[in-house]
Amino acid sequence: METKGKILVTGGAGYIGSHAVIELFQAGYEPVIIDNFVNSQESALAGIAAILNTDVTCHRIDCTEVAALREVFQNEGNIAGVIHFAAYKAVGESVREPLKYYHNNVGSLVALLQVMAEFNVTNLVFSSSCTVYGVPDQLPVTEETPVKKANSPYGNTKQICEDILTDLANSDGSKIHTIALRYFNPIGAHPSAKIGELPLGVPNNLVPFITQTAIGIREKLTVFGTDYDTSDGSNVRDYIHVVDLAKAHVVAIDRLLAGKAKQIEMFNIGTGQGNSVLEVVKTFEKVSGQKLNYEIGPRRAGDVPKIYADVTKATQELGFKTELGLEEGLASAWQWELNLKNNKK
Ligand code: UD1
Repeated sequence: METKGKILVTGGAGYIGSHAVIELFQAGYEPVIIDNFVNSQESALAGIAAILNTDVTCHRIDCTEVAALREVFQNEGNIAGVIHFAAYKAVGESVREPLKYYHNNVGSLVALLQVMAEFNVTNLVFSSSCTVYGVPDQLPVTEETPVKKANSPYGNTKQICEDILTDLANSDGSKIHTIALRYFNPIGAHPSAKIGELPLGVPNNLVPFITQTAIGIREKLTVFGTDYDTSDGSNVRDYIHVVDLAKAHVVAIDRLLAGKAKQIEMFNIGTGQGNSVLEVVKTFEKVSGQKLNYEIGPRRAGDVPKIYADVTKATQELGFKTELGLEEGLASAWQWELNLKNNKK
C-alpha cells in the first residue's frame, strides 16, 4: 500500500504515542512503533490493531541503546521522520531518582539523533512540555516566555533536550529539522475507548486519579490545595484532549516533510483555556453522572499555581487548533475507565 511515508514513533505504545499512531495511520502515514514497555502495556498494541483493523509493527527495544536503534533503522529503511515520545514523566519520581531520568530522557534523545544522522533521517518531532516555563511571570505563556530554572529533574530533562536540539540546529552541517511540541496537560482517551491512559500503580496525574476514584479503585481524590491565588483557590491548567494532541503531531510531520519547517521550532500545544482542579472535578461529575468523593488537602510540592497556553503561534504557523473541550476529554476518560473494568470481568 502506498503511504505518505514511514514514521518511527518511539514510545508508540504509551498514552500519547498510541493516539498519535492512530492519527498518523488515518492521515495516510505508516507508523512503526519502538517501545520497551517499561511504562506501557502490550494491550495498547491490541487496542491500536482493533481501531485500525491492522497490526502496526512494533520493535521492542530500548531507545538509549544505539546498536538496537541502528538495527531498527537498518531493517526498516526509508524512514521519513521520527516522533520521539519515549521518556519518563513522573515529577516526584524524578526528584527521588534523578539519574534514571537523565539517563533515559536525555540518553535516548542523544542516541536517537546519532542514529538519525547516520541514516540521513532528518525530520524529528520532539515531545516537550509546558514544564519548561517553570512558574511563569506572565499568562498565558507564549513560546517567547522565558524558560525558567526547572523545578524538577524531569522538567530539567525537557529543557536539556530542547537545548541539545537547539545546539544541533545551530551546528555546522546538521540536516536534522526539529519541531518541539510543548504539551500542556493531556487528558481523555480515543472515542472508541480501545486505547487510553494506563497508569502503572497509583496515578500521579489528576484525571486518571479521578476516574479510578469514581470507579472505586481509589477511595478519594485529594485536591492539592485551595489556597492559591486563582479564582477558586485550586491550581489552573490547560487540559488538552489527547486526540487533539495526537493530531498536532500529524500536522508537525506534514510540515517537516513538506520542507516548511525551520531547523528548530517550538510550539505550545494546548487549548488556550485554563481550568481549575475544582472545575475539572465538577465537570467530571456532570459528564459522568457520578458523585466524586474528594477532600481538600495540602499543596503538592513543586506545583505551579497557574499555567495555560497562548496558542497564537500554533494556530498561525502550524494551522493547528483544538476541536475538543474539557467535557469531551473527561467523558472519554470515563468511558475508557468503564471499558477497562468491563474487560477485566
Ligand atoms: C506536570 C507538568 C507537565 C508534565 C506532567 C507529567 C507542569 C506545569 N506540568 O503536570 O509538564 O508533563 O506533570 O506528569 O509542571 N492534582 C490534584 N490531586 C491529584 C493529582 C493532581 O489536586 O491527585 C492537581 C495538581 O495539583 C495539579 C493538577 O491537578 O494542579 C494537574 O496535575 P497533574 O495531572 O499531575 O499534572 P501537572 O502537575 O500539571
